[in-house]
Amino acid sequence: MSASPYLLESFHDPATGTVSHLLACARTRRAALIDPVLDFQANSGKVHTTSAQRLVERVRALELSVDWLLETHAHADHLSAAVWLQREVGGRIAIGAGIDAVQAHFQPVLGLGEPCDARAFDQLFAEDDKVPVGDLRLQVLHTPGHTPACISYYLPGEPGCVFVGDTLFSPDYGCARADFPGGDAVQLYRSIQRLFALPDATRVMLCHDYPPAGRAPCLETTVALQRATNVQVGGGVSEADFVARRQARDRQLAVPALLWPSLQVNLRGGRLPEPDAQGRRFLRIPLGLSE
Ligand SMILES: [Fe+2]
Repeated sequence: MSASPYLLESFHDPATGTVSHLLACARTRRAALIDPVLDFQANSGKVHTTSAQRLVERVRALELSVDWLLETHAHADHLSAAVWLQREVGGRIAIGAGIDAVQAHFQPVLGLGEPCDARAFDQLFAEDDKVPVGDLRLQVLHTPGHTPACISYYLPGEPGCVFVGDTLFSPDYGCARADFPGGDAVQLYRSIQRLFALPDATRVMLCHDYPPAGRAPCLETTVALQRATNVQVGGGVSEADFVARRQARDRQLAVPALLWPSLQVNLRGGRLPEPDAQGRRFLRIPLGLSE
């Protein structure tokens, strides 16, 4: 049996349920970090880098060179550590090209300063773009629905792997909500069908898991398992049934706890707000905008 062409490690952040991934080319030691977390305590305003430091330690222990800091979408539940990691280990910060629609929606809501457009990222990816990581070639799949900018990064192989962002969660949890601005349950269903069409053994690398008591965090599954058993979208559920259930469920969901902090950092590529003349940084919460 030949050795795997890639190294893959995953890290669960229990505070936000986020899973970050380290993918590397086994031969060249070039690497990508996917959906890294910057730790943030909303009650104290404290930011720390414990989660991101775990990634740096692994990069250094494995003697990797980081080429990419990849986001699957603009997360609304945690802050990205991409900017901090770029200073530590290098790499280009990238996200899906549909981010412009999300930025255009929220920039006036939050009064975000520059850059809050394509310049906030080093690179934007569209459908079928290829992301080189040493000998590896990640294929970009545009998988909108949770947000218009969601992309998945697919590495073909035996088995390959696909980094799906929030498009799928663990089979016992389902998938992401589709009620954010620009979200669409029909699009989400169709994006998931694209993922279900990948080879059965493809490793589905999750971006989140919220394990119930007694279950360890689920960091990855397979296409076959998701297609057969995902409680919201597996087992051959029809588009109409999925959409009706998804929309009913979304009407019951609360706004994510870190929505405003996350967006005002992540839509600017992971930059914290600029400091004022005294060096203080503040996050904004727009008042009176909820229904
Ligand atoms: Fe998300």
